[in-house]
Amino acid sequence: MGRLDGAVAVVTGAASGIGAACAERLSADGAQVVTVDITEGVDYALDVRDEGAVEEAFASVMSHFGRLDAVVHAAGVIGGGPVHLLDSDEWDRVLDVNLKGTFLVDKYSAIHMLAQGRGSIVNIASIEGLEGTEGGSAYNASKGGVVMLTKCMAIDYGRRGLRVNCICPGGIDTPMLHSIADADGMGFYREKLREEHLLGRFGRPSEIAAAAAFLASDDASFITGHALVVDGGFTAGLRVGLLEQLGM
Ligand SMILES: NC(=O)c1ccc[n+]([C@@H]2O[C@H](COP(=O)([O-])OP(=O)(O)OC[C@H]3O[C@@H](n4cnc5c(N)ncnc54)[C@H](O)[C@@H]3O)[C@@H](O)[C@H]2O)c1
Repeated sequence: MGRLDGAVAVVTGAASGIGAACAERLSADGAQVVTVDITEGVDYALDVRDEGAVEEAFASVMSHFGRLDAVVHAAGVIGGGPVHLLDSDEWDRVLDVNLKGTFLVDKYSAIHMLAQGRGSIVNIASIEGLEGTEGGSAYNASKGGVVMLTKCMAIDYGRRGLRVNCICPGGIDTPMLHSIADADGMGFYREKLREEHLLGRFGRPSEIAAAAAFLASDDASFITGHALVVDGGFTAGLRVGLLEQLGM
């Protein structure tokens, strides 16, 4: 028996990377999964910045399935740079997709979940929503906003049967990570970033999906308002090479 048997789940960003892995994992765990992405090849091709399209998609899911048990919101974009070099258009793009998109997906998830008195929302934030990074600016601000939105929704809806959590992944092996780490002259960045993960490697999308399936399911029935760090130890603390000095 799967932990999500009989559940209806919506996964956004489902055409690639973490979202695709979440769709696969929730399905393997027994859920009927509805996929959403801006690209074709999913059940609902829409832009999460488009309120009308998001509203319509959730209404359509409800009229088709009659219930909505879980939402994993993974659609997002990378972007940013040092503030004095950052165009306001780029700021708007990143904030609109990552934060406004989360607001809209969560809003229409919550409306239907409140009506049925139960449901679980899992937002994919980032460790960059918990800590600053060089040139992070718009991306980190957007993900910090996702963490805070998650907590506020958990407060507002806990007594009405909704659980709202987010996952803060470290570097995960997806097209988004490769779009930066594989760029010309970025080899140093890729190696340093990988090294900062205490497990010595980037994460796999399936490792985020496992956490998402857990939070989406009743196995996490007493967990809400939580930002679950899944980062191979990246944020555990400082590592300056003492172990090497000790021959370890
Ligand atoms: N890969 C990492 O290292 C990492 C780390 C922390 C957090 N995250 C977050 O995980 C989530 C998934 O990222 P990923 O690494 O799988 O990236 P990805 O680029 O592989 O997948 C992102 C998906 O979101 C979709 N998308 C983008 N803009 C959209 C829009 N406006 N409307 C609908 N769909 C849209 C894309 O088409 C794509 O399928 C993102 O929110 C990202 O910020 C990724």
